[in-house]
Amino acid sequence: MIGIFDSGIGGLTVVKAFMDTLPGHDILYFGDTARTPYGTKSGRTVIEYSIQNTEFLIEKGAKIIVMACNTASSVATETLKKRFDLPIYEVISPAVDLALGQTKNNLIGVIGTRATIESGIYEKKISGLRPEARIHSAACPLLVPLVEEGWIGRPETRMIVKKYLHPLKVRQIDTLILGCTHYPVIKSIISRKIGKKVNIIDSSVALAAQIRQFLADNPQTDDGLGKNATASFYVSDITRQFEKTAASVIRRKIKLTRVDL
Ligand code: DGL
Repeated sequence: MIGIFDSGIGGLTVVKAFMDTLPGHDILYFGDTARTPYGTKSGRTVIEYSIQNTEFLIEKGAKIIVMACNTASSVATETLKKRFDLPIYEVISPAVDLALGQTKNNLIGVIGTRATIESGIYEKKISGLRPEARIHSAACPLLVPLVEEGWIGRPETRMIVKKYLHPLKVRQIDTLILGCTHYPVIKSIISRKIGKKVNIIDSSVALAAQIRQFLADNPQTDDGLGKNATASFYVSDITRQFEKTAASVIRRKIKLTRVDL
């Protein structure tokens, strides 16, 4: 069983990629909707929440943990890997690998929450692998609430995206990493505003491929094989707005169960 967590809606873009590319595997999702957003909180708090989320998923039977949240991946990966004795996957490395594979001019843009951008994790990983690459990053704190509110087709959202992307556009980046799992929901707007020629990197598909490989190499961790796969969705708070947005992100009818951690 694959355990996946995020602060709320964003991780569902990863779940959707997993369901599309990894059918036949059990999925257990936890969205920390009562404590969202993570991107405006301190590293210390996000680490604490990530530990609790992981403990919950393990208790429910997860054999692999996926941090479907760039903010948690930026600050909590090391702690979780040290603390828990099971495979922990994060969303940053697959995005970096994809970006390095696609850029031609080595000018790479990264957008994410304040916590992710301030952590400098993308710069660190990209420079470590390709020192000549130039990274231009921008924190986009208004995008998560716009996605959570379902303001996808609104002119205000297009305007805000344009404003955030302007500094990256003038740097002539040819590759843009969506460094927040909420952003694939507004990928088409982002692509239009940054320019159609820019490669847009969404790590969820690459991450699903990594997990597929891991499951093939370690079949004992996969108790979902040979039966109809299940997907369970737990959240720390349920609101009508969340139910509505969740269904539109995952494009399936899902049942949410509220839990206290
Ligand atoms: N979707 C998450 C991320 O990838 C976090 C958004 C938030 O809670 O601020 O960073």
